[in-house]
Amino acid sequence: MIGSIILGLVLAIILSFFGLSFPALRQRWTLHAHRSQPPPGPKTIRTGIQKPWLWFQELSKEYGDVVYLQMGPTPTIILGSAQAAWELLEKRGAIYSSRPRFIMGSELLSGGMRGLIAPYSAFWRRWLKALHNGFMQRQSESYRPIQNLESKVLMHDLLTNPKEFRTHLERYAASVIVTVTYGRRVENVRTDAVVRANAEAMDRLTSVNIPGKFAVERYPALKYVPSIFAPWKAEVLRQRQKDIDMYLGLLNEVKDKMRRGVAVDCFTTYLISEQMNHGMNDLELAYAAGSPFGAGVETSAGSLASFLLACEKFGQDFIPKAQAELDRVVGSDRLPTFEDMASLPYVTAIISETLRWRPVAVLGGTPHASIADDTYRGMFIPKGSTVIAPLWSIHLNENDFPDPHTFLPERFLGQREYPGPFGHCAFGWGRRICPGMHLGHASVTINIARILWGFNVGPAKDERGEDIDVDM
Ligand code: HEM
Repeated sequence: MIGSIILGLVLAIILSFFGLSFPALRQRWTLHAHRSQPPPGPKTIRTGIQKPWLWFQELSKEYGDVVYLQMGPTPTIILGSAQAAWELLEKRGAIYSSRPRFIMGSELLSGGMRGLIAPYSAFWRRWLKALHNGFMQRQSESYRPIQNLESKVLMHDLLTNPKEFRTHLERYAASVIVTVTYGRRVENVRTDAVVRANAEAMDRLTSVNIPGKFAVERYPALKYVPSIFAPWKAEVLRQRQKDIDMYLGLLNEVKDKMRRGVAVDCFTTYLISEQMNHGMNDLELAYAAGSPFGAGVETSAGSLASFLLACEKFGQDFIPKAQAELDRVVGSDRLPTFEDMASLPYVTAIISETLRWRPVAVLGGTPHASIADDTYRGMFIPKGSTVIAPLWSIHLNENDFPDPHTFLPERFLGQREYPGPFGHCAFGWGRRICPGMHLGHASVTINIARILWGFNVGPAKDERGEDIDVDM
């Protein structure tokens, strides 16, 4: 009798426990049940790939818009549609917005100071807040006079020396970023000291961020081998010191100008004056001030280069329509301005189509990483997965953009079903969405409008007067 009472009590306790924690249990059970159902993917991994985005696109066509790859010890998920990227990276952004470990690039070379490749942490939140405050929409609008001026210089450079168009685009983008960040213009992008120092720092980073190059990425414990026994580590630490000297040097230059009362208001003066509020030390400030250069120069210049490429191949279809609109709204007595854009829907559609058609971040920027187990459409995605959302697959997905390699601004006129507010994903997703998107978009906008207004862009001619074809 007593035995059955005790048994009953135990059963009641177990049942009430199950009842109370039922949702949590159900979730655990779902995860457990799907553990054997990862997304589909190939059995073997290709190595030595030069253009991984082309391979990822093939995989998405073969296996669907969520593909599983086992890259070394890390599960890797490749997303191939805007919908899947939106569902995971945006809507479940709390899970999917960390970064994978970059032991060489982030931990050893940068001492964890580069927010762009930093995982979730208190440091990353401080960094992001500083970047967000410096580049949010209203703040970015205050940089428009700089973009207006630099854009005029760009138009002059394109007019007087069109052959060097790539250098002119780079100068424009670098000058906007360096002025906004450090308060000084760039007149010659090849010789400017700030540009060269930053570019060298970027080269140091890219030289170590090569998958498979360093054993420490696969065997993290090697990170703790003393430098004296590990020449590769001694070398990367030497490189780190060069970065520190460079970034601190630029920060101290601005501090010195502030002390002398000659500093121009810029992102670095803002960081310095808000240092206490952000709770960042000098080194964090110095690296944060360097972030826009690494992320904002090549992306802005490259997007404008994509536009010129589109003009070369498809210009005869869209340039006359854009010019008719510009003639009507702006006329020939003045350049288009930011204020005109609301009355230029066709030019605005060209800008969106440029960002879609040949996205500069072909791999969708730096990979994301997940911080918890998850299931999506019945597929299990383990915690710690690297998640790549290549824009090459997503923006050239035929379901969203029929005839995707054709440059067709009309896609962006009128209503269209597409996840998110922009009709494309050029600036990424969720908590990792590009903080410089307002500044970057404005650079692309003003220059595309002005090039369309002032130039007829077409293919270069060879010595026989024939069009020179370019690689699309
Ligand atoms: C047309 C120009 C630009 C394009 C197409 C672009 C695109 C992107 C993309 C695709 C990402 C990755 C988002 C993700 O991980 O989901 C990104 C991140 C980032 N971008 Fe941009 N970007 C542009 C301009 C700029 C500019 C001007 C800045 C300057 C402030 C900037 C700063 C950043 C930073 C700091 C990140 C890293 C954010 C993080 O890791 O939390 N970008 N950008």
